[in-house]
Amino acid sequence: MKMDGQQSTHGESYAYTSPYWAEFYDMWVEDIVGPTALAKDDDFFFGLLSPFLSNNVSIKSPVRGVDMATGTGRVIRGILRKMESLAQEVTSSDQQSKIEIWGIDHSQAMIDHAKGLLEGKLQPSTTLAWRNTTAANFVDENPELENAVDLIIFAAGSIGHLTADGERKRFLQQVVKALRDTDHSQAHRSVAAISILKDENNLEEKHTDQAIPEDKDRSTEMRKSSRRWPHLEYHMSQITHSKYEGRSVDSFNLTVVKAATGKIVSREMHSWSLKLFDFDEWEKELGDCGLSISQQIETSSELASEVWYILHLADE
Ligand SMILES: C[S@@+](CC[C@H](N)C(=O)[O-])C[C@H]1O[C@@H](n2cnc3c(N)ncnc32)[C@H](O)[C@@H]1O
Repeated sequence: MKMDGQQSTHGESYAYTSPYWAEFYDMWVEDIVGPTALAKDDDFFFGLLSPFLSNNVSIKSPVRGVDMATGTGRVIRGILRKMESLAQEVTSSDQQSKIEIWGIDHSQAMIDHAKGLLEGKLQPSTTLAWRNTTAANFVDENPELENAVDLIIFAAGSIGHLTADGERKRFLQQVVKALRDTDHSQAHRSVAAISILKDENNLEEKHTDQAIPEDKDRSTEMRKSSRRWPHLEYHMSQITHSKYEGRSVDSFNLTVVKAATGKIVSREMHSWSLKLFDFDEWEKELGDCGLSISQQIETSSELASEVWYILHLADE
């Protein structure tokens, strides 16, 4: 049975199903945290993958990574940018490990947008696969991932989007199915790197709390021109928050207008929810599912302060 808290709670008003929001999302993030912030984690993401690349050259099966809840593909773009900058140091592409990265998201609109941003950015050693699948079912719906994944990345605290009762645990059980059950004495055991937002200082809070600079001519709305549809312009209202049963719900209006005439093309109320984080419950779920914490890493950028849990399959 499929389990998806966002789709069952928000239905058609769920923001991430909208192609307009899919384009506007990065503009919104950049407006809050600055144009370079989206690339700040490139080294970190590549550093998660790189241990699997050395010594893999002679092995036929590619290094396989999953970017869970890929959104606009920020993590994959970061890895590819880093690989491109390192490419000169590698003498021949024949000597490179083969890498297969899967971008998984439950929104086709986000996947389509990410794909567009990544066109022409691939290194010869890398292939991408895209799947519209919900986190709690990602291996059941893609059985080729069973015992076949070296690295799973779940960034930007997006695990908080798994809001239905039992949904996060179902996802962790899928992680256990996916991770390659390698010889535990090997240097590089397969890992899942899952980020938790460190405090309430997440994007939505930042946006609501920040003072809007006077030189940005908007009193309560953020306005941006579409690049995909150059004749259109987005107007996003401020986000309103509400809380219920350990979840926060964020809502806003996204209006799309014709730039030349101001005529409204679409006006939708969008929302999503986030599950408030309980560390004791989280650590219990990890243990129940058979995952061990090998490391906790704190990262901090304009985008978010995150605690990364580096998880591997628990020893029998
Ligand atoms: C904050 S955004 C993108 C995060 C992206 N990984 C990054 O680091 O920029 C969250 C994404 O999670 C996706 N998402 C939320 N719940 C999901 C679920 N249950 N299964 C798969 N994707 C989900 C949304 O569609 C959205 O694209």
